[in-house]
Amino acid sequence: MFRWDLGSGADLRVLELRHAEEFLAFVSANRDYLGRWLSWGHTIQTVEDSQAFIRRGVTRYAEDGLPWAGIWEDGCMVGGLLFFPLEPLPRATEIGYWLGEAASGHGLMSRASRAMLSLAFDELGLNRVALQTQVDNVRSCALAERLGFTFEGIRRQSWVNHGRFVDMAGYAMLAEDWRRIKR
Ligand SMILES: CC(C)(COP(=O)(O)OP(=O)(O)OC[C@H]1O[C@@H](n2cnc3c(N)ncnc32)[C@H](O)[C@@H]1OP(=O)(O)O)[C@@H](O)C(=O)NCCC(=O)NCCS
Repeated sequence: MFRWDLGSGADLRVLELRHAEEFLAFVSANRDYLGRWLSWGHTIQTVEDSQAFIRRGVTRYAEDGLPWAGIWEDGCMVGGLLFFPLEPLPRATEIGYWLGEAASGHGLMSRASRAMLSLAFDELGLNRVALQTQVDNVRSCALAERLGFTFEGIRRQSWVNHGRFVDMAGYAMLAEDWRRIKR
């Protein structure tokens, strides 16, 4: 099973159904913080909702080898990342990420994202990882840029958040970008 030491007492592990209660507790404790940007921050209310969310990740991982992962720091779940389904021909996917409020602002997601990008490019041989974020999600845009993603443009009103159409900033990293960044 995929497990990645992120240093400073943090690690990245594949989300499994046995984590459903812990994931629900994490979401409940960070509902407003996550729910501002992620619809599931509000919709995951019960352990069954949590299981259904994790089950999607488990199924996708089995199908295409791209994990949904939790981040643990000092034994507590503090965030996670996921990959969207693999597009086989262009060997492409999209990444998503979230942290609890207390874990934000310390560089943890930068480290975790690099681990997931290394998995995607170095181990699974993907050629492109996209990233989409609301244009006004300043922390998420800053993270994309800090990681070295290239801004590719704005998809106007391509998402709905809290009942209103929102503009999404599109970023992507190619395998050749990753190799250059790593040097
Ligand atoms: C998007 C999100 C993951 C970004 O988290 P983050 O904490 O800003 O990202 P990091 O963990 O990489 O931390 C970076 C911050 O730590 C600081 N930092 C401290 N030490 C650092 C280090 N060694 N390396 C990198 N950054 C470091 C950086 O300066 C930065 O802070 P700043 O933005 O105030 O300058 C987080 O805001 C979040 O989960 N939000 C809610 C859910 C969400 O929006 N998800 C994305 C939907 S598209």
